[in-house]
Amino acid sequence: MLRALIALMLTLSFLSTASAQEKAVPDRSATGGAQTLEDIMARQRGDDVDNSFRSDATGNPDSAADTANQLGTLGGASDPELWRALRFGSADITASNNGPAATTLVQDGGMKWLKFREGPLAKYGGDLLMGTFILLTAFYFIRGRITIDGAKTGRTITRFKAIERFGHWLLAGSFIFLGITGLISLFGRKVLIPAFGHEAFAFLAVGSKWIHNNISWAFMLALAMIFVMWVIHNLPHKSDINWLLKGGGIFSKGHPPAKKFNGGQKLIFWSVILLGTSISVTGLALLFPFEINMFAATFAKLNAFGISGALGLGELRETLAPHEEMQYAQLWHAIVSFVLMAIILAHIYIGTVGMEGAYDAMGSGEVEEQWAREHHSIWVDEVMADTQSGSTKTTPAE
Ligand code: HEM
Repeated sequence: MLRALIALMLTLSFLSTASAQEKAVPDRSATGGAQTLEDIMARQRGDDVDNSFRSDATGNPDSAADTANQLGTLGGASDPELWRALRFGSADITASNNGPAATTLVQDGGMKWLKFREGPLAKYGGDLLMGTFILLTAFYFIRGRITIDGAKTGRTITRFKAIERFGHWLLAGSFIFLGITGLISLFGRKVLIPAFGHEAFAFLAVGSKWIHNNISWAFMLALAMIFVMWVIHNLPHKSDINWLLKGGGIFSKGHPPAKKFNGGQKLIFWSVILLGTSISVTGLALLFPFEINMFAATFAKLNAFGISGALGLGELRETLAPHEEMQYAQLWHAIVSFVLMAIILAHIYIGTVGMEGAYDAMGSGEVEEQWAREHHSIWVDEVMADTQSGSTKTTPAE
């Protein structure tokens, strides 16, 4: 999953020009080395243009005229050369304010970022959520609800303590708010302004942003809580392989044995932890602009370990303007959130309408013993062994 995500992200590295050596160098002798009509047309077609002929042409201090002469000097750089240096980030700039991005006067990733955010990100993200919803609905009609096969015993077993349920619902509640407010931010202009008008949307957008920024802390806290409480139960175990190979018994008769969490739940747990952490870190980078830069360093590592090459992406750019770091943070934040939202839709399905008896585990914390035997037989045996030794209790249901 992580590898697939990295691949996805890197295919989006729209700001990274593919390596110069792959491109034929056009003949620029007619323009004395300056750009040609062909260069301009290629850029307009959206082709990857090797800009080194411009980015490196930023003047030469050694050719500056003597300052003592009349109408002396531009420091060896003409106006176009100076603008090029500004645009490609190599100008020597002094700014009166000290903000982290103060000396970046021109960066040109913004338009591509905006187009990507409004285009493929919104389209494929929306499709993923709709597709997941349709698949789950189809699954419900084909497979139906997973019911408790055997006769109910009338006894219950404690599955989750109050603190575990609190951590889960803090995570779930905050995630749902974050998901909805995040989607309002992404789709609002296109969907909500035409429906409700600018004024109503302005109110909604400001509110969404405020909720999104502040609820993020609850999500991070809950993520840490469930990690600490459940990591021990989510370490791989040999029963997981059998469980996964049998698809959890969803399409067959019988239930593969499982510990407290089965193979499928462990996948959910680790997705939540890894993707949730990735969303949190990029979210913090967005909350504190220009303070947390990680993409240039990540790209450098991917280049160094040959991962970008193996994925066919060529050399990734290792120097990014501060704004480009923010653009990548925003895209990664949104892409990983879409993936986690799709996973969580499936999780919510199975925890509610998809499986009889599952919701009780997070509702009251008590599950029917027969449900537990069918879905977590090894765990029930462990609980029973503890009960006999006096440390846990099963309770008759009312
Ligand atoms: C309305 C929303 C939700 C419902 C009804 C729900 C329901 C449940 C239930 C019933 C369980 C216990 C399963 C068992 O007894 O084995 C569970 C576990 C869990 N939930 Fe949720 N949940 C919801 C939302 C979320 C969200 C938003 C997240 C994370 C962002 C999340 C993360 C987890 C994790 C990591 C587990 C443990 C692993 C697993 O059982 O899959 N849940 N949830």
